[in-house]
Amino acid sequence: MPLDSFGRDIHYLRISLTDKCNMRCVYCMSEDMIFQPNAELMTTPEILRLVNLFAGLGVDKIRLTGGEPTVHPDLLAIVRGIHATGITRISLTTNGLRLTELAVPLKQAGLERVNVSVDTLDPDRFHRVTRWGQLDKVLDGVRAAEAAGLTPIKINAVIARGFNEQDIADLARLTLHHPWQVRFIEMMPFGDVAAFAQDATISQAEIMQCIETEVGPLQPIAEGRLDGEARLYHLAGSQAAIGFISTLTNPFCASCSRVRLTADGHLRLCLLRDDEGDLLTPLRQGASDADLESLVRSLIWRKPWGHGLPDGLIPLERVMSQIGG
Ligand code: 5AD
Ligand code: SF4
Repeated sequence: MPLDSFGRDIHYLRISLTDKCNMRCVYCMSEDMIFQPNAELMTTPEILRLVNLFAGLGVDKIRLTGGEPTVHPDLLAIVRGIHATGITRISLTTNGLRLTELAVPLKQAGLERVNVSVDTLDPDRFHRVTRWGQLDKVLDGVRAAEAAGLTPIKINAVIARGFNEQDIADLARLTLHHPWQVRFIEMMPFGDVAAFAQDATISQAEIMQCIETEVGPLQPIAEGRLDGEARLYHLAGSQAAIGFISTLTNPFCASCSRVRLTADGHLRLCLLRDDEGDLLTPLRQGASDADLESLVRSLIWRKPWGHGLPDGLIPLERVMSQIGG
């Protein structure tokens, strides 16, 4: 397992399959977002070659992201290809729009589970936050994923002041009626939506206070235990967890075990820092597996300790849809 220079085991790879998306969430991209030409993005064989290499290095967990990974035409073949390397912990972060038709084939291809973004349970506000999304389709997708066994289901909610703070309580109440983990993600500033994110972000403390006032007390599960990046709580009478991913007010950098592969084949060492290494150019120039492996090892060694937001260092080179969250 490659270690970084701080001794963290890096065994979790998140792969952005495409920067493209069939929604335009206000905190993620502008409505007239220009995407990268496909020729600059990894092809399916290139993705699978790198997956094999990372599997050989000890990566045992992969999440597919985007943009929106379900708009990639080879999604099922990619899941099958990952599964064939022996990696079984394969998950997907999706906006859910295409899950109704994809849930069963994804499960059959070897996908373990999904995270679906649902920021509000009100159809009009959903449309306002996502610009192009349709809530009923997404909720049908969540139910299809549950029926297909892509469980445990996790629901991601980003709360933006002025858009959906009135939905916090209802999102938390989902855990009273479903075995879904509902995770509140503090909004992070990126690229050309950075100013928006800085103005509209709502902290974990504020979200917790809102839940406690409107719904009831939050009890910590296993005293501050981290489930991946989320700190877990639950409401009385519910076994389903409410998680907080609080990159700004409660970062989890000390336990970070991940690196990211962008759709254009760069290894991004920290979500919130622009430091990356290009793997695709050497791959296309004919680098051997051994060359690529030593490049990956040296990049992982260089993984920074934490992000620079407290010092005002905002990642400007890419927005979330190009990194994959
Ligand atoms: N801050 C926090 N989360 C974000 N996401 C997209 N943009 C941002 C941002 N600026 C989330 C989406 C989705 C996941 C891929 O990342 O809501 O759940
Ligand atoms: Fe698309 Fe996800 Fe970005 Fe929304 S947050 S625009 S669904 S990539």
